[in-house]
Amino acid sequence: MSKMKSAAAPFRATLQELHRKYATVADGRVATYIPELATADPAGFGISVVTADGLRFDVGDAERLFSIQSVSKPFVFGLALEDHGRERVLAKVGVEPTGEAFNAIVLDEATNRPFNPMVNAGAIATTDLIRGEDHADRFKRLLAMLGRYVGREVFVDSATFLSERATGHRNRAIAHLMLNFGMIEDRVDETLELYFQQCSALVDCRDLAVMGATLANGGVNPLTGERAIEARYVKDVLSIMLSCGIYDFAGEWAFRIGIPAKSGVGGGIVAVIPGVAGIGVYSPPLDERGNSVRGVLVCKELSERFGLHILEAGHAGPALLDEIRPGRRGG
Ligand code: DON
Repeated sequence: MSKMKSAAAPFRATLQELHRKYATVADGRVATYIPELATADPAGFGISVVTADGLRFDVGDAERLFSIQSVSKPFVFGLALEDHGRERVLAKVGVEPTGEAFNAIVLDEATNRPFNPMVNAGAIATTDLIRGEDHADRFKRLLAMLGRYVGREVFVDSATFLSERATGHRNRAIAHLMLNFGMIEDRVDETLELYFQQCSALVDCRDLAVMGATLANGGVNPLTGERAIEARYVKDVLSIMLSCGIYDFAGEWAFRIGIPAKSGVGGGIVAVIPGVAGIGVYSPPLDERGNSVRGVLVCKELSERFGLHILEAGHAGPALLDEIRPGRRGG
């Protein structure tokens, strides 16, 4: 045990160094289009990493709760896949990046599907696919799913939910457009409430790192041992995160950083190094596309320093694992 702690120290120091370095970045603005989000503290900043075998590292405000927002989207996509299978889900939502803002009112002209499950239209469609007897049952299944990834019970922040619901006219327009094309069922209000509820679930960046580590670990939460998603759907979730997870910066992200990730306007980013670790970053000031400024910088530096780009020959993990566990190759 003590051996593990001291072995892990260099990586903790690395995270502390990144936290110190990027805490001084003052770019970006906290989201204000939902009044409750405007109350976020722009100085809040946490970084967490959890390995696929359950070691955890936290620096800064790693236990500060915030609303998960769109970071929920890949996980809800995963639930829709489990509930209906790949083909039925793909009949309702595509897998193409949009290159447009996350809240664009746009559907694929040829198929009437939303472009992908990481933008609002696609996420409303995957939310519609959550099975259940009624709203309460669907809500329970949604929270239970998030809870399996996080490893604890998840709660919704009522103030954020009410604020989302009071201002969500654009999402209502998107949902009604999809209803018009038969892409979602005729229970728009219920599905929108579920969508607002999922966006308002409270997490901290340690939770995001565990969620990422669960995907990195083939769908099994490395801290609880509980399976959060069937193994066969993990690569579907990760592919869509890589191609579409960072809004209209997704292509640039895949090119420069190269690890599946998802951002949310609450300031959270989850990133997944398959087989190796999950990263969670929290910092509310956002760039013009809605991504956490410090979150992008931290992920970029971790990717560059440790060669995490998943398309790099011999990729990822080894350098990171060497720093986490010096001597792992026989010392
Ligand atoms: O739909 C909204 O406006 C938000 N609650 C979703 C937030 C988000 O992070 C943007 N995502 N794609």
